[in-house]
Amino acid sequence: MSAIESVLHEKRVFPPSAKASAGAAISGMDAYKALAEQAERDYEGFWAGLARDTLSWHKPFTKVLDESKAPFYTWFEDGELNASYNCLDRHVEAGRGADNAIIFEADDGTVTNVTYQDLLERVSRLANALKKRGVKKGDRVVIYLPMSVEGVVAMQACVRIGATHSVVFGGFSSKSLNERLVDVGAVALITADEQMRGGKALPLKSIADEALAAGGCEKVKDVIVYQRTGGKVAWTEGRDAWLHEIVENESAQCEPEWVGAEHPLFILYTSGSTGKPKGVQHSTAGTLLWAAQTMKWTFDMKPGDIFWCTADIGWITGHSYIAYGPLAIGATQVMFEGVPTYPHAGRFWEMIDRHKVTIFYTAPTAIRSLIKVSEADAKVHPKSYDLSTLRILGTVGEPINPEAWMWYHENVGRGQCPIVDTWWQTETGGHMITPLPGATPLVPGSCTLPLPGIMAAVVDETGQDVPNGQGGILVVKRPWPSMLRNVWGDPKRYQTSYFPEELGGKLYLAGDGAVRDKESGYFTIMGRIDDVLNVSGHRLGTMEIESALVANPMVAEAAVVGRPDDTTGEAVVAFVVLKRSRPEGDEAKQIATELRNWVGKEIGPIAKPKDIRFGENLPKTRSGKIMRRLLRSLAKGEEITQDVSTLENPAILDQLGEAR
Ligand code: WTA
Repeated sequence: MSAIESVLHEKRVFPPSAKASAGAAISGMDAYKALAEQAERDYEGFWAGLARDTLSWHKPFTKVLDESKAPFYTWFEDGELNASYNCLDRHVEAGRGADNAIIFEADDGTVTNVTYQDLLERVSRLANALKKRGVKKGDRVVIYLPMSVEGVVAMQACVRIGATHSVVFGGFSSKSLNERLVDVGAVALITADEQMRGGKALPLKSIADEALAAGGCEKVKDVIVYQRTGGKVAWTEGRDAWLHEIVENESAQCEPEWVGAEHPLFILYTSGSTGKPKGVQHSTAGTLLWAAQTMKWTFDMKPGDIFWCTADIGWITGHSYIAYGPLAIGATQVMFEGVPTYPHAGRFWEMIDRHKVTIFYTAPTAIRSLIKVSEADAKVHPKSYDLSTLRILGTVGEPINPEAWMWYHENVGRGQCPIVDTWWQTETGGHMITPLPGATPLVPGSCTLPLPGIMAAVVDETGQDVPNGQGGILVVKRPWPSMLRNVWGDPKRYQTSYFPEELGGKLYLAGDGAVRDKESGYFTIMGRIDDVLNVSGHRLGTMEIESALVANPMVAEAAVVGRPDDTTGEAVVAFVVLKRSRPEGDEAKQIATELRNWVGKEIGPIAKPKDIRFGENLPKTRSGKIMRRLLRSLAKGEEITQDVSTLENPAILDQLGEAR
């Protein structure tokens, strides 16, 4: 049975315990339904109420939703605010400056506490230093940093002065970094000398230098370098500056730049089904509102809670649930520099124990990989740690299979903690479909029901609702405040990718397939319906990997598909035709390794194909179209049962299937 089938046959239901419901922000299904109905009855009033209660406005808004330029929607447009003020100053002004904002644990275990007062001062100093360098409202700043307090400081400092940040994950290559610097039109880059992961120092500054040298980034006048390891780096006088030096003499006060609600908060690149990655543009008020609101609803955050989201700040989860959401509500969070398996595979549990974490949010891939090691070694098993402070668990980024869900529930949650399986995307800014810990009866593998105000539905190819029990296309029927506003520099792509004409031009197309349960109406996500892969919760476009492969001088043609994988969810499989004859045996292995490293250099190590198969050709129809369906079957090692009569070269199937 596939993972999806097993979810669809899942009969176990875990109702919320009395303890989880007591005092919860949404304390039962009645409370949930009341909120959802309120949103349906008075959509704008519902959102306006949340925006007034949750955010501090410099100038209150009078307009709520403007649909006149649909699908280019605006929210709270005439209001003014500053995200950094909302995340920092207002807590300090309320007398909470001495509370911990971030408990940072370094790769080597060193722990640093950063209070709200400290964070505000550090952000203000860097904001002043950026201003001194000429960075101003509306400018774009690229951040290429490891998991660090400095990463959060850099993001907050940008928004404090009205600059828009674009964070690039530290695992991306110089080429990927260059593409993003160019596309976003960055004026400054904030990076580090090196990053520490699993006891190893990995370069960042040298990759950044390469990216800048690759051309097209002449507008980047300043490179600010956080000294993490003290490792040797090359230096360009007049352009490069050490972070610690430039903030030294800056004032710890910096008046926030008040911006309009729609001012771009950040641009974050993500893979789509075609061409190069898209710069997903988010607004200030809408995205901050939903990041904060979902902290309260989905995670039921209360004073005294210690929140830990294990995502990297280079991804949307690290934006909404490290850099913005927890800070906007004045919470205390743990932030971790390293990897879950160093110095041992019990690191997550040890850290939950050490920091008394109450709410823990991670990816199914991490859980699946830790199941394997901890079932083999009792020392690193969650049962060997005191996890009694935990009260809510969460997952994000990919479907969680019921077995992994049950293991997480029993071993990490001791059968006591609700699991919130949160479905959302870079484009949605925050959670969309998720259980509520004090309300929703849980079904392993299902993300259950949309949050109040989120009009999610399953439709067919023409945009018509399909009945429950029947699979279809996941859409959102009405605009919501934290949705993306545009694809940076490419409004046409925004429109065609997310509001396609075929669906009537008004439905937000998520790019996932979904099915709702016949009785409960619960959603189960069936994975991407486009050419986007999800490897360890990381989004990768098959076209991007194909372009990287054909850029190699040895390669004539390449096709990339996904295959289900026990640990990473999906794995990348590449079918490659070389310009020379088809290699075999050791030679094939050696070229495959070379190509894998090539993709690592072109995009980043996360995109390396797990399996590369060589053929003299690819399966094509007589009109020359690659038959990807067949490649997917071959990748899985399935028997080919499809009709292959339209295939130009049926013999190729044996050749490509053989490497299994
Ligand atoms: C997938 C990550 C099933 C989905 C926040 C989506 C999920 C893509 C879940 C977005 C979940 C995310 N269950 N699938 N709980 N959460 N996905 O942009 O395919 O990196 O479209 O955002 O991840 O990935 P992204």
